[in-house]
Amino acid sequence: MILEMKRICKDYSLGKEPVPVLKNIDLQVEEGDYIAIMGPSGSGKSTLMNIIGCLDKQTSGEFILDGVDISACSDKDLSVIRNKKIGFVFQNFNLLPRQSILDNVALPLLYAGVKKKERRALAAEALRSVGLEERVRFYPTQLSGGQKQRAAIARAMISKPALLLADEPTGALDTRSGEQVMKLFKELNSQGITIIMITHEREIAEHANKIMHIRDGELRQEQIPVEAHKEQPSVEDPEDENSRWDTRPEPEQPHETEKDTAHTRAAVTDTDDTAPTDMTQWEKPQNGGDELDH
Ligand SMILES: Nc1ncnc2c1ncn2[C@@H]1O[C@H](COP(=O)(O)OP(=O)(O)OP(=O)(O)O)[C@@H](O)[C@H]1O
Ligand SMILES: [Mg+2]
Repeated sequence: MILEMKRICKDYSLGKEPVPVLKNIDLQVEEGDYIAIMGPSGSGKSTLMNIIGCLDKQTSGEFILDGVDISACSDKDLSVIRNKKIGFVFQNFNLLPRQSILDNVALPLLYAGVKKKERRALAAEALRSVGLEERVRFYPTQLSGGQKQRAAIARAMISKPALLLADEPTGALDTRSGEQVMKLFKELNSQGITIIMITHEREIAEHANKIMHIRDGELRQEQIPVEAHKEQPSVEDPEDENSRWDTRPEPEQPHETEKDTAHTRAAVTDTDDTAPTDMTQWEKPQNGGDELDH
């Protein structure tokens, strides 16, 4: 088991009053799982993802990631865990605007202490694997949304993490680019990468092997395996006794626009002025300079 949560609660304090956001979440994720988490805006999806990604800690409950009790870890331990074990993909890509795509993708290797020549070679290879070999010298503003997200996936995977966390990875993309991203996720999952993805779109969620729903801070797994959805009897055949299986929930409500995800909040509230130490701090200005090759 790569991840186990038991009775995880997360409260935020509003003045003196604690506001419960996650309530007794139990979650078990096996190696190679591909999980989609759905839920209305404000239901706690990003809050849960932040805890899974070791960006934030639970208020109570137990969280074991790859055999490590996360609540016992220091901030430094957590940044090492994030760097080694977790790749992050965000709705808005979080690429550094003044770095080329090649340098953006190579960045996690800089934190890992890999030499410049090697990290550039590995980054070029990673970009090739997402079909961007002809764009390595481009800057993020010179790429389409889908290309930016593919570059962000290459960056997330360059340190070969076992777990990929994606918070609405297709939320800013058109359908076709979203499908390309889903194709990449499927390939990564078939290589054994465990994926946990937040999405508001049912069609996107159905690429996963398990769908879970958060509602009012509680997490539930959908009872019907995803595969069964795809084999449902047609509605023209109401007599078919299999039609009783159609207990799918109503489609999600359209997503309210709350762009400021908890991930980005975690990044911008960090007050350390030195160079970033892990991949969750990309959004900070890099000491005003463009060059990260120290
Ligand atoms: N740092 C914080 N301080 C106080 N409250 C917070 C904080 N972060 C999140 N919340 C609250 O926790 C609740 C869940 O937020 P969260 O970002 O997890 O929702 P979400 O399900 O990801 O929503 P969306 O689909 O809009 O991204 C919200 O009511 C939000 O206001
Ligand atoms: Mg969110």
